[in-house]
Amino acid sequence: MIQVELIKDLKENIKIAKSSNKSIGFVPTMGYLHEGHMALVNQARIENDFVVMSIFVNPAQFGPNEDLDRYPRDLERDTKMAIEAGVDLLFYPQAHEMYPKDGGISIQAGQLANVLCGASRPGHFDGVLKVVTKLFHLINPTRVYFGQKDAQQLAIIETLVRDYNFPLEIRRVETVREVDGLAKSSRNVFLSEAERKQAPAINRGLHLGVDYFMKTFEAEKAKQLTIQHIEQFTSGKIDYVELLSYPDLSIELADASTIILAVAVFFEKARLIDNIIININEV
Ligand code: PAJ
Repeated sequence: MIQVELIKDLKENIKIAKSSNKSIGFVPTMGYLHEGHMALVNQARIENDFVVMSIFVNPAQFGPNEDLDRYPRDLERDTKMAIEAGVDLLFYPQAHEMYPKDGGISIQAGQLANVLCGASRPGHFDGVLKVVTKLFHLINPTRVYFGQKDAQQLAIIETLVRDYNFPLEIRRVETVREVDGLAKSSRNVFLSEAERKQAPAINRGLHLGVDYFMKTFEAEKAKQLTIQHIEQFTSGKIDYVELLSYPDLSIELADASTIILAVAVFFEKARLIDNIIININEV
């Protein structure tokens, strides 16, 4: 596996891969890798000749009171995992090289960021769009892999790519879970033992809500069932539970063929998110 920290070294290696007409599969991450990230790599491996992973804890997407400083990092362990997963090139830039100078131009996520995580994390998705735009330009990938675990992020990046004609394909990958249903996340390490035992109630609550919605099409009651279950079985504080159309994230469900039930829960040291996306017509 090629490991590069500098943009010039990244560019050189991308040029070599491109000159031999290799398709490039790209997996952007913030590291502290787990099986969710690995599912993206596996999919990229199958569909491309050359797989690039980036590891960059992107300061632009963290708010002033968020967990940038204590976001978990372990480059040595991540490197081993990337090698084992068959990544061809690992790019782990430094913030001062990614953001050398602020010219004052920003990319704004717009209306899709007015709901869910965008509503509780102002500017978060602008920061995500900033870094993925840079990474897309630097790596020039054929296909880029994102997890449905971060469904709003995926919807916003798909919109960026569509509206601004980025010459690449976005590929969606299903959420990878622990055996008890908890969505894998780098932030799960921040859960106390007791919270870790409670956390699968998030996914169970989502299932209760979705099942009820599919039977009755009553969104409010469906959300209430999810809220009740999470409140009853965890000590977490609910940030939001929302039922929206997907990927346009509207509360207007009348014409929706696909819906998302999404939740964010604050625990003592971690804010966890999860969702279920379901095609109404296929059930
Ligand atoms: P990070 O949280 O490290 O996630 C990197 C990718 O892994 C994202 O596409 C995310 O949706 C996916 N992922 C995380 N947990 C998953 C799971 N349990 N199952 C499937 N996929 C999962 O998302 C980011 O980093 C950043 O915002 C980034 C896009 C890298 C921009 O900085």
